[in-house]
Amino acid sequence: MIDGKSAMIKYALAVVGPLDTNCYLVYCSETLDCAVIDPGAEAERIFPLIYELGLGPSLLLNTHGHLDHIGANRDVKEKFAVSLCIHGLDKPLLEHDLQSELSFFLGAKESPPPDRLLQDEETITIGRSTLRVVHTPGHTPGSVSFLGEGFLFSGDTLFNGGVGRTDLPGGSTRDLEKSIRTRILTLPPETIVLPGHGPWTTVGEEKDSNPFLG
Ligand SMILES: [Fe+2]
Repeated sequence: MIDGKSAMIKYALAVVGPLDTNCYLVYCSETLDCAVIDPGAEAERIFPLIYELGLGPSLLLNTHGHLDHIGANRDVKEKFAVSLCIHGLDKPLLEHDLQSELSFFLGAKESPPPDRLLQDEETITIGRSTLRVVHTPGHTPGSVSFLGEGFLFSGDTLFNGGVGRTDLPGGSTRDLEKSIRTRILTLPPETIVLPGHGPWTTVGEEKDSNPFLG
């Protein structure tokens, strides 16, 4: 688990599922209101962290609709009174074929439908804190990143030393590169990047040394 903070907003991490998806709990340190970002699988690893920190989840945010990021949406939604949010262009991805070998392998369950469709530049309120939605298409058409004060949850758009794959349905290398260059690398270099898989990094570090952005 990592624990970060900036003003009133904090985050904690649970790594879940066979693809080691980063499920982040983002919360207001004053009210303990919480958003669960990308519960990909293994709710039994996420719930204890929520209880340990005394959090009250009110939002379920998906950076995109791939199975390894949404596989425990149902479990979270059944346990807590959360509003499920995803960008409209990835809404169709919530309707995965759960008979597939892939979903079986990932331990994914059928997702409930979204309660709210996210828009670019929209502000999401978590207690007395906020996140801003940044539409970063490329890995999927409806991929979004979530920007807090000094940190960015980048989903599968940008990784530490890598970028999201674009060979899956709806992927676009051109869109991905444009998203990263115009929406992420333009942030202050000290901005902490918290990706959907693997370790954190910073905008400056990726600008200087990410081999896919040379
Ligand atoms: Fe993905």
